[in-house]
Amino acid sequence: MKLSVIGCGYLGAVHATAMASLGHEVVGIDVDEERISLLSDGKAPFFEPGLDDLLTQARDLGALTFSTDISLAQGAAVHFVAVGTPQRPDGDGADLRFVDSAIAALLPILGLGDLVVGKSTVPVGTAGRLAEQIRSTGARLVWNPEFLREGFAIEDTLRPDRLVYGVTQNGSAERDVSILDEIYRPAIDAGTPRVVTDYATAELVKVSANAFLATKISFINAMAEIAEVTGADVTQLADAIGFDARIGRRFLNAGIGFGGGCLPKDIRAFSARAEELGVGQSVRFLREVDAINLRRRQRVAELIADAFDGEPQDRHVAVLGLAFKPDSDDTRDSPALDVAQRLHDAGAVVHAYDPAAIDTARRIAPDLHFAESVDNAVREAEVVVVATEWREFREMLPESISQVTRSRTIIDARNCLDPQAWRAAGWDYRGMGRP
Ligand code: UGA
Repeated sequence: MKLSVIGCGYLGAVHATAMASLGHEVVGIDVDEERISLLSDGKAPFFEPGLDDLLTQARDLGALTFSTDISLAQGAAVHFVAVGTPQRPDGDGADLRFVDSAIAALLPILGLGDLVVGKSTVPVGTAGRLAEQIRSTGARLVWNPEFLREGFAIEDTLRPDRLVYGVTQNGSAERDVSILDEIYRPAIDAGTPRVVTDYATAELVKVSANAFLATKISFINAMAEIAEVTGADVTQLADAIGFDARIGRRFLNAGIGFGGGCLPKDIRAFSARAEELGVGQSVRFLREVDAINLRRRQRVAELIADAFDGEPQDRHVAVLGLAFKPDSDDTRDSPALDVAQRLHDAGAVVHAYDPAAIDTARRIAPDLHFAESVDNAVREAEVVVVATEWREFREMLPESISQVTRSRTIIDARNCLDPQAWRAAGWDYRGMGRP
């Protein structure tokens, strides 16, 4: 099928590439010339395992092209809208300007029977409004939210755990469902559960899924706060409650809290939208989820300051990890980078290292000292902080690190190290919510 993907950020670039790998003819459109030129050269504009290879394969087959010229999308049977919906600069709501401009740009090229498929995360009510806007062209709209995780983006796109189609209620639903089924044929044939619903439900599925995940993480971080004043161990607590299949152990890792381009802004946008709809109280707990989450960053900064008896000025700290999670170079709302910046602002000398995110971090926090390796970062350090649980850090041997640094204090902001091993090697180990 001939497809276009409008917006080639994380979601769009991966979606375009994955759809081309399924045999569709895809054109990816974006206003960012640098991004388009990288993608056209077969290079992913961000770190995502496997994406470079898949891009090159699809491009060599001639199935995938990228352009800044939206007129090249004309003639595609289906147009995916995959632009970003960041937090508004002046409040908590979602900034829909990229969605609106994508639809405005599509309007002149849409024809009778074309399908516009929304994938961006939007406030409930947006799809209905956009469907009205495109109605006069004879095109139809489906809302098909995306649940991919960075670091697993290709796998999540090609083998999702569910597909959600929000379709119009005015008679064309069956046709729209069969078009999407055709696009996602391998996943459908593999028995992927598919929920066909109305626009509002599809929009809400996406934001409520992220709200649930954020709540789960803040729940365990709240337990970490209680553990910190009672001497309990939140990691054992998580293991023990996680054995209950109704609770489950995944997304119960206490630490520095969640970040990234999705969970933080999505829970804020959800709260803002609920307030607009007069049901703010229904998700008021998300404000608390956000507050618990932000307190964890503060807690890590305090643990570091405590290690310097409250006076971190001119003291040397190694911050290992800047990305908001491992296997990503994304530093959007990254708790790791936030803590590094707080330390810098408090006068500490921060030596920061990340296996993939130094370039993106440098753009946001140019004043940090960036190291090229763990050894370089820890050499001068008096305190070492593990802020993102990259495998490289999880597998560090305390004895080897001891040989290159004068520090003997490690703050494990992700609870990803073995406290016994570090203590046995003579380190003062401090975790989050554990004795
Ligand atoms: C999240 C959702 O997991 C995806 O399903 C969704 O599609 C995506 O947002 C989106 O809306 O686009 P992602 O932002 O890639 O995906 O990251 P997650 O793996 O969900 O991690 C989010 C944050 O939570 C990270 O900072 C991570 O370190 C943190 N986290 C995760 C914890 O602190 N504890 C945990 O137990 C799990």
